[in-house]
Amino acid sequence: MPNTQDALFRPLELPCGEILKNRIAKAAMSDSLGDGQGNPTKEQIHLYNRWAKGGLGLAIIGEVQPTPDYAEKPGNLVLDPNSNLDDFATLAAQGSANGAKLWIQLGHAGAMAHPPISAPKGPSALNIPGLSCEALTLEEIARLPETFARTAQLAQKVGFGGVEIHAAHGFLLSQFLSPLFNKRTDRYGGKIENRVRLILEILEAVRNKVGPRLPIGIKLNATDQLEGGLDGDDALSVITALDQTSIDLIEISGGTYFPGARSASDAPARGPYFLDFATSARPLTHKPLMVTGGFKTLQQAKAAVSESKVDVIGLARALVLAPTLPNKWRDETLETPEFPRFSNPPEGGVTAWYTMRLTALGEDREAEMETDLPSAIRAYEARDTARTALWNSHFHQTTPK
Ligand SMILES: Cc1cc2nc3c(=O)[nH]c(=O)nc-3n(C[C@H](O)[C@H](O)[C@H](O)COP(=O)(O)O)c2cc1C
Repeated sequence: MPNTQDALFRPLELPCGEILKNRIAKAAMSDSLGDGQGNPTKEQIHLYNRWAKGGLGLAIIGEVQPTPDYAEKPGNLVLDPNSNLDDFATLAAQGSANGAKLWIQLGHAGAMAHPPISAPKGPSALNIPGLSCEALTLEEIARLPETFARTAQLAQKVGFGGVEIHAAHGFLLSQFLSPLFNKRTDRYGGKIENRVRLILEILEAVRNKVGPRLPIGIKLNATDQLEGGLDGDDALSVITALDQTSIDLIEISGGTYFPGARSASDAPARGPYFLDFATSARPLTHKPLMVTGGFKTLQQAKAAVSESKVDVIGLARALVLAPTLPNKWRDETLETPEFPRFSNPPEGGVTAWYTMRLTALGEDREAEMETDLPSAIRAYEARDTARTALWNSHFHQTTPK
């Protein structure tokens, strides 16, 4: 008997009026399935169609770049006026099958832009082992809101159901929030009211371009999990500031891709993570809250939603392991997917393994995928090397810096 009465399977109306059919979201993942020139591939389109048919309410495509200049990886999508809009429209349509909503995450890697395809720039200049970048000028910062808004408008035009502003995990907008990256002394640095300013300016520009009905979400860190980074109190101040805006969904995550640091998906602790933070955030905002990180079992997901701690749960790795998990949870035919265990993985190794599994899902060959970490890392790195050449020859000739 389908379990549609459970809180997890009740629809959710967002402030803009859009309705999510249930409370299960595929959190943004950089799937590295772009074609190396910023456009979707047929494997990527198939992957999002599989997820939609698997029963989720919302899926978010990770790291879609408004320009090719500060990408996180050469497998990222780039949605700008030079993109192949027909392919994006196909992706939007196929990923919206079965009543699922498909959003894009607006990314900008800033200081962590991939050096082989960009000249990284962050809020402040940095030069530490493994991370070196220049500072964005005030003129460059001033152009960002319109650049993000242009991509959001294109997303709406080709049929995506919404956008999410990426302000987590140590990428550009998370760098602005973090005192570790942001040493500015102008109106974008110092107290948290200044560090959040660019996010609010981008949100306003996006809303002005897409109108009142398109959902806009944001992904934030509860904590950077790094000494000197964004802490819980400042993160709560950001939630308070967002409550006064037209944001439709606040996704809470944590962790930072920073040399030597653990990312949210490398975390060794038992999940779900960040539920305590969500409990502190709840009284500060009426906006729907989504929490991502460490959900593995149906019991954990049900408890988070039915205890009203959160409105939506975000799943990344679980949906890579079991793309039809929402249907299985609805029908109560599976409690938890089998998570692989890796002993002493190298930095980035777990992410590489999950990324290669995304490729296998897009090609319908997950049953044959090599399961060991070294093969996944080799395949991941070889593909990035090939795409780096493609990206550089395509974008550096066609797109002005
Ligand atoms: C392969 C992979 C790629 C990811 N890429 C992104 C991304 O592009 N944007 C983002 O916000 N988070 C990204 N994440 C983080 C996830 O959205 C999520 O926050 C994290 O994996 C914890 O959730 P989980 O425990 O359900 O996996 C990625 C995670 C994985 C495993």
